[in-house]
Formats: sequence, structure tokens, C-alpha cells
Amino acid sequence: MKIQKICCIGAGYVGGPTMSVIADKCPDLEVRVVDINKERIAAWNDKDLNKLPIFEPGLDQIISRTRGRNLFFSSEMEKSISEADMIFISVNTPTKTKGLGAGQASDLSWVEASARQVAKFANGHTIVIEKSTLPVRTAQAIKEILKTTNRENQKNEISKTFSVLSNPEFLAEGTAINDLEQPDRVLIGGEDPDSVSDLVNIYLNWVPREKIICTNLWSSELSKLAANAFLAQRISSINSISAFCEATGANIQEVAKAIGTDKRIGNKFLNPGPGFGGSCFKKDILNLVYLSEYFGLPEVANYWNQVVVLNTWQQDRIYKIVLQKLFGTVNGKRIAILGFSFKANTNDTRESPAIRISSDLLEEGAVISIYDPKVSFEKVKEDFEKLSFDNHGSWHMVNSIEDALKNADAVLILTAWEEFFGLDWNYFASLMRTPAWVFDTRSVVNREEIKNTGLNLWKLGEGS
Ligand code: UDX
Ligand code: ADP
Repeated sequence: MKIQKICCIGAGYVGGPTMSVIADKCPDLEVRVVDINKERIAAWNDKDLNKLPIFEPGLDQIISRTRGRNLFFSSEMEKSISEADMIFISVNTPTKTKGLGAGQASDLSWVEASARQVAKFANGHTIVIEKSTLPVRTAQAIKEILKTTNRENQKNEISKTFSVLSNPEFLAEGTAINDLEQPDRVLIGGEDPDSVSDLVNIYLNWVPREKIICTNLWSSELSKLAANAFLAQRISSINSISAFCEATGANIQEVAKAIGTDKRIGNKFLNPGPGFGGSCFKKDILNLVYLSEYFGLPEVANYWNQVVVLNTWQQDRIYKIVLQKLFGTVNGKRIAILGFSFKANTNDTRESPAIRISSDLLEEGAVISIYDPKVSFEKVKEDFEKLSFDNHGSWHMVNSIEDALKNADAVLILTAWEEFFGLDWNYFASLMRTPAWVFDTRSVVNREEIKNTGLNLWKLGEGS
């Protein structure tokens, strides 16, 4: 089958950049991205590329080359699905908040709704691809939905057929374009060799054949969960050692360098920090925990659950250190928060450690000024509202580092944005009240830069 038109359901952090790169690399394909969120679609279509709904370095250039040429964003679900030869499902799969598996299992409502839309509107033979990270055996559920609806269609003499593939996305936010253009691997799971080969052919436009791994459906689904679990485990491991360093006088940067030179360990993903955030790590591990319990493997469940426990503990202990250094109270004290996104180079705040740490400080009555180069006031407001905590302080967003630090008693660096490196601390110290503290959770501040400024410095993972 010659694939000519593809459709992606879900114009989010995964669907948007992934389809932009496919459209860029395959000019002969027509790529339509659809979303029920009309505001999001309008933002993807905005002439002003600064208003794209997600910030991702390099994305604006790709959009300017492809949008309107072979890449289209719309809410026209029926037309886009019915014309497509291949449909990617890239919708949100948050952790369930209610019912069986609440707090652990993924809520598949959006995936199910998408599968039903596909079943209803598709024509002829359609390849349906799971792109969202999903629990193992979700492809089976999608197949069932498509099959059942198909039986109804057959009764009405409408003929449509489907094959389901899993093609999990491994992009990391902030480096998504590079990850998509030069992936470590592309993973395709599926049973139907023709459909697998149709998808392989799309990737062959820019990915070398040896980097395309084909497996069965379940291995593909599980590999995505396992890869994220391993990565998150690494962050919890280095963060646990950061606490150990502080207690013993060791230095986490030195330790990370020393262990990272062992080729078997490797030097990537060993940066200590305030804990991992983002939409995937916590959700995927909790999913793994839930499934392990479901399959009667409580020891496996406990093992992985500890990665999340340690991550929460890391955030808690940072807030407690701030409190302790400020003489046990932050009530009425002004604290500058530098960086609110879960990592640098993204405007995404999902599961950002900044949310929990700031809200804990607000519960203690702190007056917080937040500065982040890409996160909006509305987003922060939404994050605080979702958490529903007892706010005894107040918070506001400011437009510069300078505004955040004016009259502050402390500054807490939570995201490693480029502009936070190499600051003129002599000048910033003059804006702050004394005694003032700098709490650096991302190894952004050099101890030498702080010398003679009168500021006190606490660095994560540095024992005194
Ligand atoms: C992750 C996976 O990397 C990606 O393959 C998958 O598709 C989605 O989940 P993402 O969450 O976008 O990507 O970002 P990532 O770079 O993995 O960072 C996750 C969190 O770990 C961030 O909060 C980051 O600050 C933290 N982190 C990462 C560290 O604290 N230290 C590190 O060394 C690396
Ligand atoms: P991810 O990080 O996985 O891309 P996002 O939350 O950023 O997740 O994006 C998922 C997108 O999917 C959202 O924009 C949401 O509106 C969209 N979506 C969810 N359900 C449907 C649906 N049934 N049809 C179309 N779009 C949907």
C-alpha cells in the first residue's frame, strides 16, 4: 500500500513535533494533525511563531517550512480520519485519579475515544499506530474496539479493515527536534508485516535501517515503559547519592564524574537535581507498578515504586533545607524562584518539582516571585489550583531575574535555563536583603562567583 495521507490525533508535546518532523522529512506525504482542543489548533496555526502552543528549540523553523505545504493542523476529525491511510494516536494518557487503579494506572479514556473515532470515520484499510505511551496490551484494547465496530459496519455492508502497530516516541522535551531527526532508535511493534514495512518506509526517509527495531506489539509497548523506568531510576539513584554527599562532605559533581567514566555506567543522565518531572517518568513507573501488582509481582512493584518515593523525598528535603537555613520560618519572607518548567528549554510544567516545592513554601507563608523565561502566569496558576493546598503566602510572576531578586531573602534555582549561568552575583546581592541565601539545585552557580558577595550558598550534593 502506498501511504499518501497520514493523520495524527492529538496535537500535544508528542504529536505536534513528531508530525512536523515527518512532514519535513517526507514532502510527498500529506500530514494532518487534529485535536479536539480548538484553542490549541488555533495556536498551531498562528502566524506569529512565538505563539505556537509548545516551545521547543528548532520547531518554529520546521513549522515555517512545512505548515500549509504538507502539514496541516485542524479540528476536522471526520475528514482527516476518513482520508488517512495511516493514523497515529497521540493523545494524553494521564494517571487515573478515581476508581480502580487510581493514582497508578493510566486513564485510557482519551485513547478509547480516539479509537472509536477511527472506527467510525476510517475508510478502506487503515494502519492505526499507538504513539502515546500506553500500558502493555493496550494495542489489544484498540484492536477490540476497531473489530467490534467493524462487525457493526459489516452488517451495514461498510467494508473497512485495520492493522494496529505500536511505535512509541522516545523524544525528550527541549531536545525533541534533534531526538526526532537523529533518534537512537525507532521502535515498531506489530504482527502484520505489510503494515510494519509501510511504517518502516516512512522512517527510512531519514533514519538508517539499522536503527529501526521491529518487535512484537507487547515488547514494543513494554520497552517504552521500561526505558523510562530505567532513566528515572538513574535520576533517583544520583539524587540519593546527592543527599549522601551533603551528609558526608563529598561532592556530587566529583562523584558523578568518577562513576560516569566507567563505560558500563556511562556519563549521561547523572545530573543531580530537585527530582524528575515531566509527563512520562512518574506516570510510566506508576503504570509499571500497577501492572506488576496486577500480574502478581509485588516485589517488582515495590522495587520500582521506590524510585518515585525517592523522587518525592528529594523535593521535600529541598523545601525543608530552605526552611531550616532561613531560621525555621519563611513566613512573610521573599523567595525568588528561578525556573518553573520541569527542565530547561521547554514551557512544560507537568510534574515539575517547582510546583510542589513552591506550594510547600506557600503553605509556610512565603512571598514568592517566580521567573521563568517560557512559562506563563496562567500555567502556574493552573498548576497551583490543581494541587489545592493551604496557601498562607502569596506568589506572583515577574519578567526578569532582577525583578525576582529585588528585596528577596533567598533565591531558589530549580531549572537550569542557560540565562541562569554566569550571573553577576555581586550586582544581584546588592538587590537582596541581608542575610541572603542562594539555593542551587541544578549546579548552575559556581562557588567562586559568589565569593565576596556576602551571599550564603547552598548547593545540592555539596557537603561542607
Ligand atoms: C523523558 C525521556 O527522556 C524520553 O525518552 C521519553 O520519551 C519521555 O520522558 P522528558 O521527560 O521530556 O523525556 O525529559 P528528560 O530529559 O528525560 O528529563 C526528565 C526529568 O529528569 C527532568 O525533570 C530533568 O530535569 C530530570 N533529569 C534528567 C535530571 O534531574 N538529571 C539528569 O541527569 C537528567
Ligand atoms: P503528550 O505530551 O502525550 O503529547 P498532550 O497533553 O501534550 O500529551 O497532548 C495530547 C493532546 O491530545 C491534547 O492536545 C488533547 O486535546 C488531545 N486529545 C485528547 N483526546 C482527543 C481526541 N479524542 N481527539 C482529538 N484530540 C484529542
